[in-house]
Amino acid sequence: MTLDRIWLPYCQMQTAPPPRVASRTEGVRIYLDDGRHLIDGTASWWTACHGYNHPHIRWAIIRQLECMPHVMLGGLVHEQVITLTERLTRLLPGELNRVFYSESGSVSVEIAMKMALQYWINQGVSGRTRFLSFRDAYHGDTFAAMSVCDPEDGMHRLFRGALADQVIVDLPRTADQVRTLERTLDRHAGQLAAVIAEPLVQAAAGMKFHPPEVLAQVAEAARRHDLLLILDEIATGFCRTGTLFACEQAGVTPDIVTLSKALTGGSMPLAATVATEDVYRAFLSDSPQHALMHGPTYCGNPLGCAAANASLDLFESEPRLAQVANIESQLKNELADCAKLPGVADVRVKGAIGVVELQGRPKVSRLREQFVEEGVWVRPFGNVVYLMPALVIESEDLSALTHAVCRVVRRAA
Ligand SMILES: Cc1ncc(COP(=O)(O)O)c(C=O)c1O
Repeated sequence: MTLDRIWLPYCQMQTAPPPRVASRTEGVRIYLDDGRHLIDGTASWWTACHGYNHPHIRWAIIRQLECMPHVMLGGLVHEQVITLTERLTRLLPGELNRVFYSESGSVSVEIAMKMALQYWINQGVSGRTRFLSFRDAYHGDTFAAMSVCDPEDGMHRLFRGALADQVIVDLPRTADQVRTLERTLDRHAGQLAAVIAEPLVQAAAGMKFHPPEVLAQVAEAARRHDLLLILDEIATGFCRTGTLFACEQAGVTPDIVTLSKALTGGSMPLAATVATEDVYRAFLSDSPQHALMHGPTYCGNPLGCAAANASLDLFESEPRLAQVANIESQLKNELADCAKLPGVADVRVKGAIGVVELQGRPKVSRLREQFVEEGVWVRPFGNVVYLMPALVIESEDLSALTHAVCRVVRRAA
């Protein structure tokens, strides 16, 4: 079979080099079919937080596979989803205790947005059909999720006109931006169902960070305008930014939170949209039409839930937050040299995320090839070279990644 029959994500199939064939993964390494291996700096799009192929997760999936790979969640539940729900609601802050499952981050965002819309409809409030989101945001590739992504620099400018018209402003980092947010909310609050944001790290649209006070400011503004707050913790959740959930650092509990990626430790596709008791109550009535109108076929898949339970075991039994603190200080030390290189606009680190932002628009495909030649799997995008490795990475492997980043960036300059 020719490889170009596999239509790859975000890939110009005509010009991109053929993909490498991965034959197995272990720890922080991806083994290729040509005998080479690469140290992974991305944890496969930020999922494999415990390292690849962790035996505890693997065994949990195998046990579940033997008794029940899948059963529909319509009218039925199962032990894995019961346990997972109990654990997630215990771990999440505040009254986030009603969990709706799906299979991908984008879909969990769709569900969060639908929940917010229907929350108002069910209470007889009409006209709240739009969302306020932020520049540099990324919430996924499905249509509602795309509509709340960055309108200019995001990957979805192409679809403008086909996407719902949302209200998009800058995150309030400066006094001016705070005033703009307030004025915008004053003007549009009656049309808005919710404010949606990525807490502390706007990841896939540029790896931009903001301090907890900015998030607290956003939450406060949403409250003052009687809007729901949706926080998308798909990238930030499960220790990545230095706390179990990023919103904890701002002391903010959203009305709805979305989780995925590290939820199953990079093994099975699973996502969760978790709402507060208050949001949930708006769906309770005698009317079937007030039920949440969503139901993915693989909702609450037992293999995914078993993997997530095993992943949560590891978060409980192994020192992930201490590991993130070590990664953070090592990234700060070892990427600092990059800041002095010509062509580097910024170097920033937050938790287990290290970012080198370049000036201008580098040829990303060339950089990616150079990283493979260096024996590492690092996937720059836009003008950003970043590391988001497994949280269990050993310091020598992390050094191999940071040194490769410094060398490739120096050559690019
Ligand atoms: C913050 C955030 N939300 C949503 C998504 C979409 O998740 P998925 O790719 O699983 O659909 C991503 C993916 O990178 C993300 O980073």
